[in-house]
Amino acid sequence: MPFIYITRAVPDAATELLAKGLPDARVEINPHDRNLNRAELIEAAAGCDALICTLADPLDASLIEDLGPQLKVIATYAVGYNNIHLEAAKARGIAVCNTPDVLTDATAEVAVGLMIACARRFADGDRLTRSGGFTGWAPMLHRGHGVYGKTVGIVGAGRIGKRVAATMKHGFGCEILYFSREDHVDWENDLGAAKVELGELLQRSDFVSLHCPLTPDTRHLIDADMLKLMKPTSVLVNTARGPVVDEAALVAALKAGQIAGAGFDVYEHEPALAPGLAELDNVVLLPHIGSATHETRAEMGRMCARAVIAVLTGQEPQHRVI
Ligand code: DGY
Repeated sequence: MPFIYITRAVPDAATELLAKGLPDARVEINPHDRNLNRAELIEAAAGCDALICTLADPLDASLIEDLGPQLKVIATYAVGYNNIHLEAAKARGIAVCNTPDVLTDATAEVAVGLMIACARRFADGDRLTRSGGFTGWAPMLHRGHGVYGKTVGIVGAGRIGKRVAATMKHGFGCEILYFSREDHVDWENDLGAAKVELGELLQRSDFVSLHCPLTPDTRHLIDADMLKLMKPTSVLVNTARGPVVDEAALVAALKAGQIAGAGFDVYEHEPALAPGLAELDNVVLLPHIGSATHETRAEMGRMCARAVIAVLTGQEPQHRVI
């Protein structure tokens, strides 16, 4: 009887599919409304054949080893897998699977929403209204920057970056710049986008939206020096991974007026925020909800379940990272 451990409660769609595909399996789910610490995770999941984890579980080499030799598949409930030691999993013959594509639209919606919310100052406008500070329409009240026709710089030319670029191009008539290691002819053909170096992208863009994975190369890709290249009227949006931005440098840049605003869904030391970030008015801060729609989260659960069923029944899983 295979043992499947799920590190956080997930939509029923996942467990329903597991029950159909592996009727004999023992499925256990973390009963707490919080992440398990290392010791708790080992105690609960050791001996499992399959682990469905989240991006908040740091699956380093020793933790993977401690979960036991029968572990055959790690299905992460995310597209990003920077929290999993891939080499350690590979060395032990463990398949690692993720949930690409299904969260592209949902995450792109959040990135676009953050651009508009920052440019038009939604969050501090909401605070003003709730606090009774709105005393009537006035020509000078709460002006922001427009979005139509502006230049949008996309860092990372994957699926989500392209969806954001297409929305800004076709919905808002924006000019699109992108930074990527590879050339993407489709970006040029479909969106009239121009590939530029990161420095040029930061200098020219009114909105910079981050969509690269977190790797050793992209950690602190946006640091104090890079922030200095941005325009004082520009907005930085991060729906990728927190450590791509040096968050202390971001706070300093926002305080100094080096950039106009920031819309963040992810944080360097998530869930903690850099000191001073939450006190700023020119930021919109979301609790890592890029993929958090009912539809997407249900499908992410099904994808994890399908990966587990495939591996435990001797088939090739569809979205295998390694
Ligand atoms: C991911 O999938 O990597 C997102 O950050 C979580 O939805």
